[in-house]
Amino acid sequence: MEAKELRDGQSTEDILVLAIESSCDETAASVVRNGREVMSNIISSQIDIHTLYGGVVPEIASRKHIEKINQVIEQALKEAKVSLDNIDAIAVTYGPGLVGALLVGVAEAKAISFATGIPLVGVHHIEGHICANYIEHKELEPPFVSLVVSGGHTHLVKVADYGVYEILGRTRDDAAGEAFDKVARAIGLGYPGGPKIDKVSKEGNAEAVEFPRARVRDGEYDFSFSGLKSAVLNYLNSEKMAGREIAVADVAASFQKAVTDVLVEHSMNALDAYGFKKFALAGGVASNSALRSAMKEACEKKGIELYYPSPVFCTDNAAMIGVAGYYEYIKGVRSGLTLNAVPNLRLGDR
Ligand code: KG4
Ligand code: ZN
Repeated sequence: MEAKELRDGQSTEDILVLAIESSCDETAASVVRNGREVMSNIISSQIDIHTLYGGVVPEIASRKHIEKINQVIEQALKEAKVSLDNIDAIAVTYGPGLVGALLVGVAEAKAISFATGIPLVGVHHIEGHICANYIEHKELEPPFVSLVVSGGHTHLVKVADYGVYEILGRTRDDAAGEAFDKVARAIGLGYPGGPKIDKVSKEGNAEAVEFPRARVRDGEYDFSFSGLKSAVLNYLNSEKMAGREIAVADVAASFQKAVTDVLVEHSMNALDAYGFKKFALAGGVASNSALRSAMKEACEKKGIELYYPSPVFCTDNAAMIGVAGYYEYIKGVRSGLTLNAVPNLRLGDR
C-alpha cells in the first residue's frame, strides 16, 4: 500500500480503524482514532421491518445488510472526513451472531482489504460490547469485571488485560435480553421488549408478584432465565383462568426486578471473590434504567467504580468493534483473507 495520506490535525502516530458490524439487525460502520475517539458512528437499524414479524428474521436481516452496507461505510468515512487512504486497519465482527448476517460484513471487509491492502482484524462481538466502555471512560483500563447483557448473551467476564478475557459465568439457557423480549410479547408489549418493559415498569410495583430468582447449583456465577420466563407465563395463565385482569405494569416491574436482582447478586459476588474495584456493564440490556440504578446502589455500598456506556454504545454499533479492533491491531493480530463468519464463536477463541 502507498504511504498513508495525512488529514489536517492528524499525526503520523494516529491509528485509524474502519469498523464494520452486521451480526444481527443493525448495519453499522464507524471510524475510530487511537482506540478511544469515535470519529463517526453510522447505524442503519432494521427494527421497523423485524417488528412486523415480532422478532429478527435472519433471511431478511442478511438481505437488508447487503442493501445498506456500502452506503453505511461511505457515510462513516465521509462523516469522519477521511478516505480509505487514511485507514490503518479494518475491523469486522466475525462472530457470534446470525451466520448470513455476519457473512455480509466479513465479505465486505475482506473485499476492501483485498482491494486496498489494508490489514484486516476479525473482532468478537462480545469483546466489542465490553470495549464500548472505553469510548466515554478514557480513564478505564483493565483489569476489571464486566457484565455483558444483550439479546443473545449474558456473560460475567474477568477482563484481565486488553483482549484477555476469562468467562466467570454465563447463562445456561435464555439471554437476559431474550427473556425481556419474550416476556414483553407475552404481556402484549411487542418487540423489542427490553425498552418497553423498562418504560412501563416505571408505573408498576416491583413487589406485586413474587417471581423466582434462579440459581444454578454447579455454577456460582451462571444464570438461568428460562424458569423465570415460564413462571411469568404460568402466572398470566392462572390470572386469566381466574378471570382477573392482568396488571401489565406490575408484572413487567416484578419480572424486571427478578432479572436485575440476580444480575446484581452474581456480579457483586464475583467482584468480592476476585477483589476487583472496577465493574463495567455492557450490551443492550445495560441501557435498562432499573439495572443501572440497582448496580449503582450495590457498587456504592462496596466502594466499586461502576461504568456503563451511553445507550447508543450499549446496543449494537460499529464504534465498539473499532475500539476492540484497535487493541487487537496494536497487539499484532491480523486476520487474513481466510477470515470466515463463526456464528457460535466463543470469547477468547481466535
Ligand atoms: O446488544 P444488543 O443490541 O444486541 C445483541 O447483541 O443481542 O441487545 C439487544 C437486546 C434486546 O433483547 C433488547 O430488548 C434489550 O437488548 N434492551 C433492553 C433495553 N434496551 C435494549 N433490555 C432491557 N431494558 C432496556 N432499556
Ligand atoms: Zn450485541
